[in-house]
Amino acid sequence: MESLNLVMTNSHALYANLPQPVCNLGGVSRSSRTSARRRNNVVWCKGGERLWLDRRELLLASTSAIAVGVTKKAAAKPMPPPDLSKCHKPDTAPADAQNLNCCPPYSEKAVDFELPINLPMRVRPSAHDVSDKYVETYTRAVQLMRELPSDDPRSFTQQANVHCAYCDGAYYEGSLPVELQIHNSWFFLPWHRWYLYFHERILAKLVGDDNFALPFWNWDAPAGMTFPSMYSHQGTPLYDELRNPDHMPPTKIDLNYSPNENPSTLTDPELVASNTNLMYRQIVSGAKTTKLFQGQPYRYGTNPDPGAGTLENAPHGPVHVWTGSPAQPNIEDMGNFYSAARDPVFFAHHANVDRMWTIWKSLGGKRRVDFNEPDYLQSEFLFYDENARLVRVKVADALDPKNLMFSYQKVDIPWINARPKKSSVTTQVASSFGTPAAIAAGHIAEFGSRARKLVVPITALVKRPKKKRSDKEIEDETEEVLVIEGIEVKRGVAVKFDVFINLAEADSNTAISCPEYAGTFSNVPHHHEHGDESAKENANKKNPFRKSSFRVGITEILEDLGATEDENIVVTLVPKGDFKANPIKISSIKIDYD
Ligand code: C2O
Repeated sequence: MESLNLVMTNSHALYANLPQPVCNLGGVSRSSRTSARRRNNVVWCKGGERLWLDRRELLLASTSAIAVGVTKKAAAKPMPPPDLSKCHKPDTAPADAQNLNCCPPYSEKAVDFELPINLPMRVRPSAHDVSDKYVETYTRAVQLMRELPSDDPRSFTQQANVHCAYCDGAYYEGSLPVELQIHNSWFFLPWHRWYLYFHERILAKLVGDDNFALPFWNWDAPAGMTFPSMYSHQGTPLYDELRNPDHMPPTKIDLNYSPNENPSTLTDPELVASNTNLMYRQIVSGAKTTKLFQGQPYRYGTNPDPGAGTLENAPHGPVHVWTGSPAQPNIEDMGNFYSAARDPVFFAHHANVDRMWTIWKSLGGKRRVDFNEPDYLQSEFLFYDENARLVRVKVADALDPKNLMFSYQKVDIPWINARPKKSSVTTQVASSFGTPAAIAAGHIAEFGSRARKLVVPITALVKRPKKKRSDKEIEDETEEVLVIEGIEVKRGVAVKFDVFINLAEADSNTAISCPEYAGTFSNVPHHHEHGDESAKENANKKNPFRKSSFRVGITEILEDLGATEDENIVVTLVPKGDFKANPIKISSIKIDYD
């Protein structure tokens, strides 16, 4: 029996076939609907004379929204399971999601989860690579799930509600009047693993086949970079009407998609290069420690949303909003947490997200391990199983897929060694004028101590506390981390921004397939964008802003940019879309160590 079906593709052979990453792709501009206000210029990775563009950022008075939440830090504890008797109308679901009730059927008693010792090892297949027989079984399973009465916790409606309840504020943290939120923290990966596990077991039971395993949408490899066709046939149980019709096969997915931006005009090879570099940054170079990849600690008695890991930001977020319908008020179904799991493709998307966890752990090094704190391991959630029993699960039991008897089909992982190459322009500029950051030091200001709105790109000089890693730090694999704090976004808006290092001229036309691209922040909507008013009316309504932070590892990028000994780096944040009406607020940019 094979435990983890991973392939480490031989880097060079595979990567040789992919387009090489560069910033200065011709024609990287977004088209055309509003082309008048968009520059069509070719952006260079580095160009000495263009480093000190004048950015007009707006200063922002530091009025912050009042959060319904915890102000004092309570004694740290694992998260207890939600109290189902206190389940209520979701606080952060869109105001226009009428009469939404996503509480599960009530049951007083829960049993403790037991590891499935009698299950066969199930191999989750790649969705673009399955047999007709598989599609037939899976389709029948979902059909049967849809036919269950809607008050059966295993029914399709109730299954979709599970996500809504845990993601839109229908539960409290234990007995505290604080929203329980399983996104934007270290619970993102284990909670979704559990969710898929039970969903899969219910489907298996419905078709009487213990070998049944969910498919994964292999969006990280060129062959899987289209919407999986088995879900795209109208009138079948795997179909969902509320999707973006322009994104059905054979359109290639943009893993850095923002619905607030004009459609990408990247050619397919450029899109593959862009997706590949995003994968490399978010899963490999930017995520060399547990927190960077998995998200920030979130303990009982603390506020939700401490910060997502790199994977959750992207590609997880962009795949959601790329799939949902732009014609719907809240990008339903996939583009909003309350409705996302009404689309069966949700489960294939999350199977690939889950697969990324197994790949990341296999990348080696001392730091790519799971959290081992009791506050994490002993945290608990509730799910209904295939026998409609309420089951209490612990995070600790989710960490090893072998224990849950599933693995993933072996497929190529073309981004795993796709370390972007330093451009020759970089070298030239660096040698004749000093490094770009050194040049910039005299021209670009620091971020400053006041919060700022991110409407046009912000470029700031960021001081590095240390110019060199000590031997001990190298030995310990200590990672230099770019930290953006006090990010405040409207929950209902699909906000996204990209981060570039030592590329002051980066703007929304800059392709992310270059070495200077450091990572992406994204917010999957979970509140209506006009929800403020109703929030004020109802004291229990969650405030419409999500406050969070963004972290990405930059040790490797600095090596590749020849900037390891620089005193400063130049950080450029590029909002992906027009957020004038709903500005992204940011309070600081700094460098930290993890
Ligand atoms: Cu719980 Cu992809 O969202």
